[in-house]
Amino acid sequence: MNKKLIIMFVLFLAAGFNQQVIAGELQSLRGSVDTDKNSKAPELKKYSKDGEPIARDYVQQPPLIPHKIKGYRVNKNANKCLSCHSWKNYRESGATKISQTHFEDREKHVLANISARRYFCTQCHVPQVVSPPLVKNNFKPVAAITGE
Ligand code: HEC
Ligand code: HEC
Repeated sequence: MNKKLIIMFVLFLAAGFNQQVIAGELQSLRGSVDTDKNSKAPELKKYSKDGEPIARDYVQQPPLIPHKIKGYRVNKNANKCLSCHSWKNYRESGATKISQTHFEDREKHVLANISARRYFCTQCHVPQVVSPPLVKNNFKPVAAITGE
């Protein structure tokens, strides 16, 4: 075997070994988890009730969803969110209308309808659950936004 081959072989062995170590010691924020047994996420039941808009912590934060979204489908045929949040329907439903940015494609062309990259709302907007935080968080928004 030449030198190059030997090095490759050693690297190959090391990679395999590494993977085993990682798989054995997997730690999640909730502690150690048996990934095989718990491959399905637990059902979250305590979604926050419908309420007022939640204050934003930084400029460009996608606002959090202050209401339940159970059963709200978004697929290629229909978008439940837009039935309240579109410019056509927001007045009637009392929901905030989607902003101008949601009509821009990635080349910044402004479209007549919602941009495909903003179609799947829950990619960015998430509802909230009543639950203690998983990890401590000391984040403080800059004063310019909160006025504090
Ligand atoms: C039945 C009507 C309805 C549907 C359907 C609906 N919403 Fe809402 N949404 C509202 C109303 C009403 C508000 C609160 C407006 C207020 O109180 O000022 C709101 C608030 C929000 C806000 C907060 C806006 C802000 O400025 O803070 C977000 C984000 C949001 N909804 C996202 C969604 C998403 C994503 C979906 C689909 C999964 C959805 N909504 C479906 C009616 C709806
Ligand atoms: C790629 C991420 C992304 C997706 C997808 C997305 N949004 Fe947003 N949304 C944002 C961000 C970021 C903001 C805040 C800045 C802004 O207005 O663009 C926002 C703002 C909003 C607001 C508040 C507008 C305002 O005037 O304050 C509403 C309501 C909203 N989005 C609803 C929706 C709905 C409904 C969908 C799906 C049809 C959607 N968004 C899809 C990122 C996203």
